[in-house]
Amino acid sequence: LGNGLALTPQLGFNDWNAYGCNVSESLIKSTALAMHNNGMQAAGYQYVNIDDCWMTSSRNSAGQLVPDPNKFPDGISGTASYVHSLGLKLGIYEDAGTKTCAGYPGSLGHESTDANTFASWGVDYLKYDNCNNQGISAQTRYTTMRDALAATGRPILFSLCNWGQENVWTWGAGVGNSWRTTGDINASFASMLSIFHSNVGLASYAGPGHWNDPDMLEIGNGMSATEDRTEFSLWAMMAAPLISGTNIANASSGTLSILTNKNLIAIDQDSLGKQGTEVSASNGLDVLAKPLSNGDVAVALFNENGSTATISTTAGAIGKTGASSYTLTDQWTGATSTTSGAISASVPAHGTVVYRVVGGSSSGGGAGSGPLHAVGAG
Ligand code: GLA
Repeated sequence: LGNGLALTPQLGFNDWNAYGCNVSESLIKSTALAMHNNGMQAAGYQYVNIDDCWMTSSRNSAGQLVPDPNKFPDGISGTASYVHSLGLKLGIYEDAGTKTCAGYPGSLGHESTDANTFASWGVDYLKYDNCNNQGISAQTRYTTMRDALAATGRPILFSLCNWGQENVWTWGAGVGNSWRTTGDINASFASMLSIFHSNVGLASYAGPGHWNDPDMLEIGNGMSATEDRTEFSLWAMMAAPLISGTNIANASSGTLSILTNKNLIAIDQDSLGKQGTEVSASNGLDVLAKPLSNGDVAVALFNENGSTATISTTAGAIGKTGASSYTLTDQWTGATSTTSGAISASVPAHGTVVYRVVGGSSSGGGAGSGPLHAVGAG
């Protein structure tokens, strides 16, 4: 969406994966403070997002949504003020139907009122769900809210949540800043793997301001540390929104070290804005490549299987040519090595090795190659 937001994929937190309907002002404030103090904000996490169940069961006499006074004693505006005082931004949840998925009042037919309410509260981000939609086309319903948000004059990132239905990727770029490509994730390797397979082929639809969204992160919620690193690796390679869904205030140092890995965040946030693509995939051994703005290429070697395997590719296969030697830096360990072209690693079960490949030139659209540099050459 050309609203100037999400020029790189959004980074933040959302309470749904860890807390379900148990959202509250105290949870949002304590999470924001933890992000402020634990290195996440410094690493780039910006949005603190409220999911479903924040409101009362009916609108007020003016037709406006009402925050549940027991859960949000200072309202959404008081919560937003606190989050803003830390230098962070506040997100909220609504639904493009008659009720939210948990049964609270939806925005269908109230888009302008609700957009104005959100803007008046200081909301910076809207996740817009698809339950109880009365069979009206998603593009119609989501476009109405897009226009209502624009009319408020407040920059509000617009996150579409219609679960990949109605080929949302084919029209999403004109309507939202990101769109969910699948149903809901859960904290299992099988769920993450299935979502990865659905999302990875949609690279051509993504770019600055409009991203495929393979759903929120489950890092810290019960997968193994290897699987948690795989999720962060794959989501970064796919230029996905990185929205943590774990208990941030009580996160382990291991979880925080994954969520704040600056190498992977740099790959996700690279200004070229290219979603990585599969170079090869056979027998559960996958190679992904993502061209970066400075001409480097990120390559991920992902082992879907239950036992250790060697995964191999080449500099040429990932779009690197023209050098007698390339430098590989492991983005998790920091170890560096050089190669004349072979790129290979022993990858543990469910694990992912990510290298940044430096040297030669890149055919993937980064600096020093392709049409970007042709512009102005005459
Ligand atoms: C849907 C969404 C989830 C979450 C719930 C809330 O299932 O896909 O991400 O927002 O609704 O009810």
